[in-house]
Amino acid sequence: MLKHFISLDDISSETFSDLLMVASYLKRRRAQGITEHALSGKTIALLFEKPSLRTRLSFEVAMAELGGRSLYIRGEEVGMGVREPVRDVARVLSRYVQGIMARVFQHQTVTDLARHGTVPVINGLSDEGHPCQALADLLTIQEHFGTVAGLRVVFVGDANNVCRSLARACILAGTQLVLACPKQYAFSAKDIASFTSAWGTQVLQLHDPAAAVAGAHVLYSDVWTSMGQEAEREERLRAFQGYQINEALIAQARPDARIMHCLPAHRDEEITDGAVEHPRSIVFDQAENRVHAQKAVLRLLMATDAQAVIAAARS
Ligand code: CP
Ligand code: NVA
Repeated sequence: MLKHFISLDDISSETFSDLLMVASYLKRRRAQGITEHALSGKTIALLFEKPSLRTRLSFEVAMAELGGRSLYIRGEEVGMGVREPVRDVARVLSRYVQGIMARVFQHQTVTDLARHGTVPVINGLSDEGHPCQALADLLTIQEHFGTVAGLRVVFVGDANNVCRSLARACILAGTQLVLACPKQYAFSAKDIASFTSAWGTQVLQLHDPAAAVAGAHVLYSDVWTSMGQEAEREERLRAFQGYQINEALIAQARPDARIMHCLPAHRDEEITDGAVEHPRSIVFDQAENRVHAQKAVLRLLMATDAQAVIAAARS
């Protein structure tokens, strides 16, 4: 059973597929107006060291719609590792709430919360990954193509947290992830080795965006400068010139290719306004699906009926 949701490295293909199925099932039930109570009486702490719109609000909505409550706490107020050690925060929170979601600078903070606490921990974005985003992304791809297997997903930009989790999600789903990036912003040898050793599949890295998007079902973009990398902004702006999703690049992909972005988008940097507003842009479907995907994670981690909901979603 799922204990934490910190990295897709720890998730089997079967669990990933169950999460997608449960997310879809809960989305359908919501559309039918069915109310859920599986997390009634349960509370999650939402701990944010960085800003957020989607992650915070989609978790709050998901918890409320599952009958539970959420408590938002800002990192500056808690001072993890500064005001007190992460292991103490983990132990205190475990006495108050039934789950913790944390958005952190250092990935180790989220693993330490899991190591020292006694409740499920969810990674709401770290410097290493953004697994909640990747789950919502694959749900969105599945809705648009009817499958998550056998597609070509091209991420144009930086081998960052969003790209790393997307690559792992694609591998779990049996689909190809191609990264189009400047050479110095490619995946590290350690990342590549981890993709290969865990799943025997390699992520393809190319440096010519036009060649990368040929035959692409999905063109995906994220900011060139992630939160916490602000000092590198000027250098990154220069390095990523030519790695923009725009109408000319879209024209090189399949005629049914969809445009994705985790948001927030910096228009006319990594993506043009025309690409965000393109008829085949699905960025707001992605944003909506954060609610449904996270409901599946919360239900499997925190509810007592996890097996029953998986069975119901499968049938
Ligand atoms: N995509 C995403 O995680 O958005 P926020 O930073 O607004 O949460
Ligand atoms: N890569 C971006 C994603 C924001 C949702 C960041 O870490 O800032």
